[in-house]
Amino acid sequence: MIQIAVLGYGTVGSGVVEVIETNYESIKKRARDEISIKYVLDLREFPGSSVEKILVHDYEQIVNDPDVKIVVEVMGGVEPAYTFTKRALEAGKCVCTSNKELVARHGQELMKLAAQKGVNYMFEASCGGGIPIIRPLNSSLTADEIDEISGILNGTTNYILTEMAEKYRDFDTVLKEAQELGYAERNPEADVEGYDACRKIAILSSLAYGSHVDYEKVYTEGITKITVEDMKYANAMGMSIKLLATSKRKDNRFYAMVSPVLVGKDSPLYSVNGVFNGIFVHGNVLGDAMFYGSGAGKLPTASAVVADVVDCAKHLNKTVMMSWSSHGLDMVDVKDVQHRFFVRIKGNQETGLQEAEAVLGKGKLVLLPELEDEFGFITEKMSEGAFDEKASKLKNMVSRIRIKA
Ligand code: HSE
Repeated sequence: MIQIAVLGYGTVGSGVVEVIETNYESIKKRARDEISIKYVLDLREFPGSSVEKILVHDYEQIVNDPDVKIVVEVMGGVEPAYTFTKRALEAGKCVCTSNKELVARHGQELMKLAAQKGVNYMFEASCGGGIPIIRPLNSSLTADEIDEISGILNGTTNYILTEMAEKYRDFDTVLKEAQELGYAERNPEADVEGYDACRKIAILSSLAYGSHVDYEKVYTEGITKITVEDMKYANAMGMSIKLLATSKRKDNRFYAMVSPVLVGKDSPLYSVNGVFNGIFVHGNVLGDAMFYGSGAGKLPTASAVVADVVDCAKHLNKTVMMSWSSHGLDMVDVKDVQHRFFVRIKGNQETGLQEAEAVLGKGKLVLLPELEDEFGFITEKMSEGAFDEKASKLKNMVSRIRIKA
């Protein structure tokens, strides 16, 4: 029997307990041993619940118990999760987590510590909810040089954008609904300002390119300025607006960014809707691969955490997680990244093309008859820097959205 402890009995923690209880027999077969939850750590009491008898409030009880071989850290936040994780690894225990904030900030150091101790620090649930993406990058796509990862990595914002696009519902109402459905972070700012997707693309990029990507250096723009009018333009153009987290290799240098992007029907990401996530990976020998599935929520996330527990149980004394170098990846300035831009400008629809081309160069007009006092304009490809310089000369610009290449 392999004894485990679960730190945190919130949404994901209770999901982990539920998954282990529900699939006890099949998990036992796959782990080649019984997985038994010895402790659940939480500050709160849960009278009448199935964890009442195994609930503890003091971490010392867990970290000092040699019977506990695997610690599941699903508390979220950096502290005390960081200290608890370090102490568990130092004590020779494996740690599985869904904590993207901690992995993005200290993942490299924690994996190194795990390797020194001959154990594993696993974090499949930190990116893409229930979608297997960390394990494929760690152990399946190892013959490739990965040169692009583009993903819809946040279920909450994808749910909000889908509702806004399909039903023309307003942002605040849909955000509230996403929170009620349990998709959103404790602080919704992390979702809607793109910080959550930023941490996830930093983790995926570090793993894929083998060097640390500092999430604080990833250009990040959220969805709070996207309006129902933007959705109407997108629909008229046959595109959808997605919060895209992208990292690309460019002549052995890299860039990473998170922002709302207009995606055309030719992209597999176009039809990733609702709380689903989609992650597109391009490898130099593989070509394209796409990972798709439930990107947030209690049970999908718990499924990924428990899959890590099974993997750890099969490799109790062998490190199988590949770490990345602490040396920072050589990042290109985002100002040099090229896009086409969709721009909304206040003004006369009849003279719009001429006015826009005089400032932004050749392009295409997009008109919505119901928005009489403005027009849309699609630029040709240009660098972010060049666009910003031209756009600063536009007197009546309402907004701009990048278009996926
Ligand atoms: N708030 C996150 C999301 C949870 O909506 O994707 C899963 O990481």
